[in-house]
Amino acid sequence: MTYENIIVSAENGITTITIDRQAKLNALNRVTIDELHKAFTSESKSGSTRVIILTGAGEKAFVAGADISEFANFSVDQGAELAAEGQKKLFDLIENLSIPVIAAVNGFALGGGLELAMSCHFRIASDNAKMGLPEVSLGVIPGYGGTQRLPQLVGKGKAMEMIMTAGMVAADEAKSLGLVNHVVPQSELLALANSIAQKIMKNSPVAIGKAIRAINANYKDGVDGFAVEIESFGESFGTDDFKEGTTAFLEKRKAEFKGN
Ligand code: COA
Repeated sequence: MTYENIIVSAENGITTITIDRQAKLNALNRVTIDELHKAFTSESKSGSTRVIILTGAGEKAFVAGADISEFANFSVDQGAELAAEGQKKLFDLIENLSIPVIAAVNGFALGGGLELAMSCHFRIASDNAKMGLPEVSLGVIPGYGGTQRLPQLVGKGKAMEMIMTAGMVAADEAKSLGLVNHVVPQSELLALANSIAQKIMKNSPVAIGKAIRAINANYKDGVDGFAVEIESFGESFGTDDFKEGTTAFLEKRKAEFKGN
């Protein structure tokens, strides 16, 4: 499939999705959100993709936010719909994918850009990255899950401060806050993402999918995460990957997981 604002490239089980709208610092307009929705949906069904890396094109920005020019004249109802539709189509979709998604934050990740990175399963960043939720400086609040996911990652007090001040944190501070897991020079960012992806791919895709579901359950209202863990743990025993993993261990050989 060809896209206007994203590039999808796949190699040996790793799919890299690059948001490429550099003239607007990769800001998320409607077309880009639709294309990301299509790409993530199609990768999740492909059967061959084991890890997805999400990054921005160019050296300046991961994503500099939702496209302000598209919503500047919205009404109350249109604003609510923008948030609801975006969350469902993209941000919740990514968070709940059973394939691991790594955000490789290569520059500004602001507003919807940081919200997009936070919906990924974890984040790494280049040393020039700057992250923040500046929405209140525009008279609006984060609408793609930022008020929920930022406190989950950095704690309530720091999230309050970041959102109220509309400030940005640099990559090293983001790492010390737990917002990103690793910081490397920009030229090494995708290599690091790929090497983490390689480590992930040594393990059972089915078990990883179940682990994502169980971890996410802790953050869903009205869901007992421990119960989800017990259920998913039990289900693992019925998979071919479990038979292969345990047999390989006992036979002192490397497991070859098929993902079922
Ligand atoms: N929505 C729409 N367009 C955006 C954008 C956004 N979120 N962020 C950047 N752009 C556009 C700019 O309007 C500019 O377009 P133009 O050349 O047609 O005028 C282009 O991208 C380059 O941005 P510019 O502001 O000139 O770059 P800079 O290096 O001076 O500043 C930022 C970089 C990231 C600090 C600045 O672009 C910015 O503050 N962006 C908005 C961040 C934000 O508030 N995001 C949350 C939105 S909810």
